[in-house]
Amino acid sequence: MRLINFDIISLFPEYFNGPFSCGTLKIAREKGIIKVNITNPRDFTDEGTVDDYQYGGGAGMVLKPEPLVRAIEAVKRNDSIVVNFSPAGQLLSQKIIQDLSGKCHLILICGRYKGIDERINLIYKPLEISIGDYVLAGGEAAALVLIEAITRLLPGVLGNIDSAEDDSLQAGLLAADIYTRPDNYKMFKVPSVLKSGDHKKIARWRRKESLRKTLIKRPELLGNLKFSKEDLDILLEVVNETEIRI
Ligand code: ADE
Repeated sequence: MRLINFDIISLFPEYFNGPFSCGTLKIAREKGIIKVNITNPRDFTDEGTVDDYQYGGGAGMVLKPEPLVRAIEAVKRNDSIVVNFSPAGQLLSQKIIQDLSGKCHLILICGRYKGIDERINLIYKPLEISIGDYVLAGGEAAALVLIEAITRLLPGVLGNIDSAEDDSLQAGLLAADIYTRPDNYKMFKVPSVLKSGDHKKIARWRRKESLRKTLIKRPELLGNLKFSKEDLDILLEVVNETEIRI
């Protein structure tokens, strides 16, 4: 069985109590598909201080390098991938999540205050990840986003019935709209093709809606894809049927 070990380096281990005790993350832990360990740099200080003023002046405290290095060294293995969360990082994507879901050991450094001393980046050359162009109070929320997105891709976490295969973005496109019962709700009906039982027709409809939705909502995603001849035919249909404002 594949197993991913997440070693979180955080000044606030209690931050993770809720998320790891319900839903997907709880199940994955109980099944032994993920193992989560949290190390607090505060336990690796000489005099209890984890942060200090910035050289050169300026608002905001910086996490000192020594406690962080000691915490990282306490969990580091030969196969560890070290990740640091920062708004300056690479924007997190499903592609990065897919790549990381094939690794065995991730060390997730959660900065706080103004951030971490740059020497940590120079020593470990971590993968720097941002979860968006906004500033969080620390890396913990970003680490949770990463862990949850990776975990749901691991074999045995989701049942077949809600497998990740046709998720939005898994194949680079947004997923087609989805419906459940009732068939007719407040005058809005489920598209009849979805009730036809014709699997080929349903698959083509979903592909078309997926291409349509991506073209309208996130056209920049289409630039990264390789299209089959059938996709191009479908796209042409979509373009002819849809008013697209650029
Ligand atoms: N830490 C602070 N802001 C962040 C962001 N946007 N992404 C990742 N880590 C962060």
